[in-house]
Amino acid sequence: MLPVKLIKQLNHQDIPKTDDSILIQSLNQEPKPVDWRDLHHQVFSPQSESGWTGKRFDSEFLMKDWWNPETMWFSIDATTNQISGSITLELSSKNPELGIVHWLMVAPNFRRQGIALALLAKLEEYAIDHGATELQAETLSSWEDAMAFYLRQGFTKPVTRKK
Ligand SMILES: CC(C)(COP(=O)(O)OP(=O)(O)OC[C@H]1O[C@@H](n2cnc3c(N)ncnc32)[C@H](O)[C@@H]1OP(=O)(O)O)[C@@H](O)C(=O)NCCC(=O)NCCS
Repeated sequence: MLPVKLIKQLNHQDIPKTDDSILIQSLNQEPKPVDWRDLHHQVFSPQSESGWTGKRFDSEFLMKDWWNPETMWFSIDATTNQISGSITLELSSKNPELGIVHWLMVAPNFRRQGIALALLAKLEEYAIDHGATELQAETLSSWEDAMAFYLRQGFTKPVTRKK
């Protein structure tokens, strides 16, 4: 389970083309932190009885110096009003040219419908509009869905120069 860092250069032409009917809202609109925690539980630990506590959520997000509720987005199913996916962007004032993707996740019963693509498109648009030129995502080599998704969207492994 090796962590893999992936990068993508940002520009308007390369923002994924997506289905406009997918409703996306950020945490400063309707969705609540508990919606994120429920989704995270469904995606990453469905077998266990409980997921992240509110405290864990706060230390992962609210306590970070980059935290901005505007940059945690959720996709919402138009028929059932259910939260189907989420993505978070870290944009730090220390390094505004670099955007970092955190916790991209889509509920199992909503996969392969372009939801992650719509979330990424929203994130890229925001990042570009706020001065970012590069996007970084970290995943695990064994997370095949995530690796396939990111590589398909133009992320690459950074080239490491030999000494
Ligand atoms: C990775 C993940 C977010 C993708 O979500 P999704 O909504 O199903 O992805 P999309 O439907 O937007 O996929 C867009 C394209 O990416 C590629 N893709 C996505 N999932 C893929 C998979 N499992 N295998 C191969 N290609 C895949 C395909 O090209 C797909 O287009 P297509 O369906 O027309 O072939 C989802 O599988 C997930 O939540 N996985 C578990 C959590 C996780 O690993 N998160 C990443 C943390 S770093």
